[in-house]
Amino acid sequence: MKHELIVLPYPANALEPVISETTINLHHGKHLATYVNNLNNLIQGTKFENADLETIVRESDGALFNNAGQTLNHNYYFTQFAPKSEGRPSGRLLKAIEEAWGSFENFRSEFETAATSLFGSGWAWLAADKEGKLQITKEQNAGNPVAKGLKPILGIDVWEHAYYLDYQNRRADHLKELWKIISWAEVEKRY
Ligand SMILES: [Fe+2]
Repeated sequence: MKHELIVLPYPANALEPVISETTINLHHGKHLATYVNNLNNLIQGTKFENADLETIVRESDGALFNNAGQTLNHNYYFTQFAPKSEGRPSGRLLKAIEEAWGSFENFRSEFETAATSLFGSGWAWLAADKEGKLQITKEQNAGNPVAKGLKPILGIDVWEHAYYLDYQNRRADHLKELWKIISWAEVEKRY
């Protein structure tokens, strides 16, 4: 099964000024494209040749896991943005966030703390267990909560390639800005 580079659901300049067109073009067109290309090469001749992406992430390791994980992670990442956020989720997701963190504002602050304090490259996730209970997970490198049996809901990339051109070393500033482009309508569909 050939894995495809996802098509962005918005023009490359649509997320400015939060994420620049240059960053989107490099991040999607170079970094993600390389992961997808590596993944397609690495599955050849293995038991994962016809496996779906989540199965590969759950069952592989080494270079195959890294490239499959990064492909899956970025598929979540790039499809969760819109030029203008609704500001907060509604419905079931908002209720579950308030149950877990008391308020949406508190969740946002806890999420930013998790993403800021992640050492090196990796991801911060909002994820749900089988009962729908939410948690924030910190994953190193290519990690994705599916490997822990959780459902990914929102995934924030804190590899420097996600923000360095626009924010240099100011990861926390980048994270604060990202809330302006989260499409909660899209995110809610994953819950
Ligand atoms: Fe990335």
